[in-house]
Amino acid sequence: MQQIQQMVNPARNYWFTHTMIPRLVLLAIYIFSLPIWSVDSAGKGGINVWPKHRNLTWSQPRLATQLSPTFTITPLSESKHLVSATSRYNLLVLTEHHHPLVTPIVNQSVTSPPLQTLNVDVVDLGIPLQHGVDESYTLTIPISGAANLTAQTIWGAMRGLETFSQLVWDNPPRVPVGLYVWDSPLFAHRGILLDTSRNYYSVEDITRTIAAMSANKLNVFHWHITDSHSFPLMLPSEPDLAGKGSYGPNMQYSPEDVSKIVEFGLDHGVRVLPEIDAPGHTGSWAAAYPEIVTCANMFWWPAGSEWADRLASEPGTGHLNPLNLKTYQVLKNVIHDVVTMFPEPFYHSGADEIIPGCWKADPSIQSFLSNGGTLSQVLEIFVNSTLPYILSLNRTVVYWEDVLLDDNVNVQSTVLPKAHVILQTWNNGLSNTKRIVSSGYQGNCIICRLLLSGLWAR
Ligand SMILES: *[C@@H]1O[C@H](CO)[C@@H](O)[C@H](O)[C@H]1NC(C)=O
Ligand SMILES: *[C@@H]1O[C@H](CO)[C@@H](O)[C@H](O)[C@H]1NC(C)=O
Ligand SMILES: *[C@@H]1O[C@H](CO)[C@@H](O)[C@H](O)[C@H]1NC(C)=O
Ligand SMILES: *[C@@H]1O[C@H](CO)[C@@H](O)[C@H](O)[C@H]1NC(C)=O
Ligand SMILES: *[C@@H]1O[C@H](CO)[C@@H](O)[C@H](O)[C@H]1NC(C)=O
Repeated sequence: MQQIQQMVNPARNYWFTHTMIPRLVLLAIYIFSLPIWSVDSAGKGGINVWPKHRNLTWSQPRLATQLSPTFTITPLSESKHLVSATSRYNLLVLTEHHHPLVTPIVNQSVTSPPLQTLNVDVVDLGIPLQHGVDESYTLTIPISGAANLTAQTIWGAMRGLETFSQLVWDNPPRVPVGLYVWDSPLFAHRGILLDTSRNYYSVEDITRTIAAMSANKLNVFHWHITDSHSFPLMLPSEPDLAGKGSYGPNMQYSPEDVSKIVEFGLDHGVRVLPEIDAPGHTGSWAAAYPEIVTCANMFWWPAGSEWADRLASEPGTGHLNPLNLKTYQVLKNVIHDVVTMFPEPFYHSGADEIIPGCWKADPSIQSFLSNGGTLSQVLEIFVNSTLPYILSLNRTVVYWEDVLLDDNVNVQSTVLPKAHVILQTWNNGLSNTKRIVSSGYQGNCIICRLLLSGLWAR
């Protein structure tokens, strides 16, 4: 929980945008988890698993045994990420000496032999970590003999290892026996978003966050890498974007940093989903390519102007210009490099908050408009010039809801193929999610899903 509190420290994030909401929601999950922690399906003095398990039985009389000092978690088959997880949890259960808020009440008159082994048996080691992967597991800890964890995938096994680690308490470590757990998440996407453009976070900050996510059985690290404020991602094909657009040489992510974060995610069962927000939120691109960015480096809300005539919804102006062919030369290099660096099958392309004033500030867009064009057509040109390329690289594209639902600048659903596009909502609570899903899209609500994801089984 200490890790979670560090993660929700709001002092480091100034603007109340969608990037801040997950922090507040995590805090809410933490607060709401407290009563759940003491209301126990196994009864008073029973045991608790977080997030709430689906099936857990602890036979009567309630017994526990010590972990043997040589206790070993043994994967029955070798796989890099599974072996990494088993060694990590093996060390954790022997050294953490956790004291739960509600101590399990155990019948002390019956003793059983120390637990020597937890076998981990995975049915299909080859199933990749992707949306909808089977994360179920079964954990059995008998009164004597080896404990067994079985799962269809190594990702489900990792959820079961987390559960096992939560069951161990005390010094020397003890674990309930006569125990059966079967569990599976209700929601396939359980994520948090981190913005590394407004504020730079070190690789260690990011890996610590991913570790905390895995302790809460969250499975998607949505990395909002770039925005108007800085471009911290070093790309081999476009080195000037970070070279000139980051906050500085020590506030960039190299391809090696990305690889470390992606591998850390795999070791923890957490997907790393990259977002390169475009065409809005791209002011930082202007440091390298001023000619492809409209309204860059301007004051976001010109003095005396109406809100409708602002250039951005918060400081940090700049939109890519969809009418400039150079835009696509740069952007295709960016997309290509990002897809190469991130194995994740989803590519988040942003497309939120097109602010009319920013595009209208540009002469080429002004003349397009005076010839009868609309800003929605400008956006459609952008989507048509980028979406097919992303699809050709075998990625599902995620956009923010705005691309379809924005009141002023949006595209028709006919240009967003439903089989390959996911829309993520951040406005109007459940109602925009309902609009998206009823239009036939897979929706992903940044707030409601996350709130629900705190309650794995409720
Ligand atoms: C989980 O519990 C439900 C309700 O008691 C039961 O119907 C179901 O068979 C259980 N499933 C497993 C896999 O334990
Ligand atoms: C502990 O378990 C034993 C054996 O089942 C039983 O006889 C005894 O009453 C239990 N003690 C308590 C305090 O529940
Ligand atoms: C654990 O699995 C082994 C076979 O892999 C089996 O022999 C044993 O009975 C299982 N133990 C429990 C408690 O399910
Ligand atoms: C495309 O992506 C899917 C899902 O990640 C994967 O199963 C498939 O192998 C990929 N196809 C190619 C040609 O890379
Ligand atoms: C975008 O592509 C669709 C086909 O997917 C086409 O019908 C439409 O005319 C294109 N729009 C523009 C502005 O080029």
